[in-house]
Amino acid sequence: MNTIRIALIGYGNVGQAFARMLRRRDEYIRETFDTEAAITAICTRRLGGVTDPAGIDTEHLTDDRFDRSLDALTIIRGGEYDVMVELTPINIKTGQPATDHVRTALSLKKHVITANKGPVAWAYRELRDLAREQGVCFCHEATVMDGVPVYNLAKETLMGCRITEIQGILNATTNFILTKMEQGMSFDDAVAEGRRQGFVEADPSMDIDGWDAAAKLTALMNVLMDVHITPMDIDRTGISEITKADLDEAAARGKRIKLLCHGRMEDSRPVGTVRPTLVDADHIAAIMDTTASYVTVTTDLMGGVTVIEEPFEPEIDHTAYGVLSDLLRILTEIRTPSPRR
Ligand SMILES: NC(=O)c1ccc[n+]([C@@H]2O[C@H](COP(=O)([O-])OP(=O)(O)OC[C@H]3O[C@@H](n4cnc5c(N)ncnc54)[C@H](OP(=O)(O)O)[C@@H]3O)[C@@H](O)[C@H]2O)c1
Repeated sequence: MNTIRIALIGYGNVGQAFARMLRRRDEYIRETFDTEAAITAICTRRLGGVTDPAGIDTEHLTDDRFDRSLDALTIIRGGEYDVMVELTPINIKTGQPATDHVRTALSLKKHVITANKGPVAWAYRELRDLAREQGVCFCHEATVMDGVPVYNLAKETLMGCRITEIQGILNATTNFILTKMEQGMSFDDAVAEGRRQGFVEADPSMDIDGWDAAAKLTALMNVLMDVHITPMDIDRTGISEITKADLDEAAARGKRIKLLCHGRMEDSRPVGTVRPTLVDADHIAAIMDTTASYVTVTTDLMGGVTVIEEPFEPEIDHTAYGVLSDLLRILTEIRTPSPRR
């Protein structure tokens, strides 16, 4: 039996959900890949790190096992692992420190999985090329629409198609708030309700001001359209100015207001916009309620192809699955390497 050793850099909601899901699929991984998946390092900002080359028992992990002197880069440079999973919070305006974490691990010929959009939105091309040079995988499925296969749909299922346009609702929080406001809730109550349900952050401004959607659109454009932009290049408007009266007026005309993301090429230049948009009742965006999201990629050979992420409980498992699916892809790749990752 082989072993694949995993270092988790960041162990919050996603890290812990991933560890639980890995335990649930332990047998499947053993049977399918003849491999044992062992988490051999975990790091958080406040607690420091814990390492165990034999595998950490995540079900019974307690804070006193952590060594405060171990930080992320120390573990990434010195740890015994094969796959580094980047799960620290995103800094949308710099992509750091996650980009440095990813760059360092790839330089050491480690496979990388990130759920953090920062590295993909800020440095995708450099990191992709570095991974290719080093002969390792750089996977990032969970960065947009969690475990819904968006990148993999385009890269693996729609092979040979050129993506010319991307459109979608990429931020669940703002879609939830707009839906609840249409139903009569105030903006503040909708935010509070989202917090109660656990998917709205303590500071929801990154969602409300459209930054999160801009980072996701950037990541999609960088990967799927092979451009090199950052979230700063997106023409971005959030939903803070949308009122109940605006939504009622739209409804009276049989329409809805949605925070739409749109990426395309204009005169050979990438153009990305995130803005509240009036959509007709028969537009695909109009059927997205609460935390649902979707993306449509327009291709030259297949026309438009749409994937939808439906609301799901617990939401965090969607993200954990995105990370797990990347791990399974790496295991598949190790077994049967493809000529170009
Ligand atoms: N939650 C979701 O639904 C979701 C969905 C898709 C993608 N993502 C992305 O996945 C990533 C993780 O999200 P999350 O919800 O798990 O965040 P979280 O609950 O805030 O957890 C973040 C973890 O990272 C640690 N951390 C922060 N800075 C660090 C550093 N410099 N070095 C080492 N560890 C550090 C934190 O430690 P302390 O607790 O000690 O600060 C914590 O363990 C984020 O980039 C997020 O955008 C999340």
